Amino acid sequence: MDVRMDRRSFLGVAAAALVPGVTAAGSPARIGIVGVGNRGSSLLQLLLSMKDVSIPALCDIDVQHLAAGQKMVQQSGRPTPEGYSRSEHDFERLMSRDDLDAVVIATPWEWHTIMAVHCMKAGKFTACEIPAALTFAECWNLVDTHEKTGVPYMMLENWCYREDNLAVLNMIRQGLLGEIVHCHCAYSHDCIFWYFDEKGYPKWSGNFLTRRNANPEPTHAIGPAMSWMDLNCGDYFAYATTTASRPLGIYRELSRRYGPNHPSVKQKYMQGDIVTTVIKTHRGNTIVVNNDMQLPRPYDNRWLIQGTLGLYSHEHNAVYLEGLTKGEKWEPFEPYQTKFGHGLWKTIPADSPEAGHGGADYLVVREFVKSVINRTPPPIDVYDSVLMSSIIPLSQESIAKGSAPVACPDFTRGKWQTRKPSFGL
Ligand SMILES: NC(=O)c1ccc[n+]([C@@H]2O[C@H](COP(=O)([O-])OP(=O)(O)OC[C@H]3O[C@@H](n4cnc5c(N)ncnc54)[C@H](O)[C@@H]3O)[C@@H](O)[C@H]2O)c1
Repeated sequence: MDVRMDRRSFLGVAAAALVPGVTAAGSPARIGIVGVGNRGSSLLQLLLSMKDVSIPALCDIDVQHLAAGQKMVQQSGRPTPEGYSRSEHDFERLMSRDDLDAVVIATPWEWHTIMAVHCMKAGKFTACEIPAALTFAECWNLVDTHEKTGVPYMMLENWCYREDNLAVLNMIRQGLLGEIVHCHCAYSHDCIFWYFDEKGYPKWSGNFLTRRNANPEPTHAIGPAMSWMDLNCGDYFAYATTTASRPLGIYRELSRRYGPNHPSVKQKYMQGDIVTTVIKTHRGNTIVVNNDMQLPRPYDNRWLIQGTLGLYSHEHNAVYLEGLTKGEKWEPFEPYQTKFGHGLWKTIPADSPEAGHGGADYLVVREFVKSVINRTPPPIDVYDSVLMSSIIPLSQESIAKGSAPVACPDFTRGKWQTRKPSFGL
């Protein structure tokens, strides 16, 4: 690959040159799914709502999840997909089929990079749930494999597609906030139920709590800020510092539910309750990324984006814009969301199934399917996916070094300086 080729021309060529057996641009998308648990089955439901999608194959090591997924496909009137469940590596057989254009991966985090790398090598357009990677080495593995194979990769970060966040993007692009200086974002979601089963034992996700201390789920927070702040197209993370509080939430909640002698209460947890990452960008901007998944609280992403002319606050559901809002007061965001609403939101079909997350899930899946069908670069590419995910290793290393600044590797190899914004255009 000639790394000097610009992003669009490179990806355009690469996307057109997928494995033999792929159908011509414009044909329906033939998609396999690996992992049809909680999230994978929601993604399957969304894909089945699209007439131009077929599902020839599904893979899951849990035969009940696999059978339920196959039934969903059957009930949609499509042929029963072939099932793959022989072993943890049976996804490799699925990815070697010559009747698939793309594969969606919705498995536990430790499998994401392994499966995505295999998928790109097999020539299938690769979509993966969040996060794309857990370590710097995994980030590089994704970038290197993408550059070697030319196969498109997209992390399915749904919060980039929220109606409010896309309207804020339009407002920024029309200059209402002036020049952007600062962003605050968070993933604040009481997730004890997602980490532990109903008897209080850790699920795969809960196992991460005992073995590392990091900002564990940063992509939902930073996702919208990528386009708000031209990250990867004009600006890039320079370095980040991270501080984590002590972990009390898990002990307290498990002890309340199952008593102080439950084995999970006796366990030692490394993962702090409240994690605060502060990123400095090359342009000189600042980003605060909070994680708060272990204490009782309502769900909140706390997005705030601030420029030289004003700011938007998700928590206040309001804006303050110099010269437009009256007095030194917040003004409700709703009229601005209507006025600056993004065209993508008009494309959500009225008969779309319960799309989850208020329509953002439909859009992230639809944008991926459109790229597969049209053989166009994905709107969230491998560089965006790894930069968002890199907050995990950046924070883990900083916490381990007593909140020391950690430099962000340049996964674009300098291309962030010349790449042009394309998300949502
Ligand atoms: N974007 C979102 O809003 C959102 C929401 C929830 C979960 N997620 C992401 O989705 C992913 C899955 O989370 P979940 O809650 O669905 O977990 P889950 O445990 O419900 O589902 C994971 C599935 O993967 C299967 N699996 C595990 N190892 C496998 C292997 N080697 N081969 C094939 N199948 C395998 C499991 O049997 C299970 O069915 C995670 O990355 C999570 O972060 C994203």
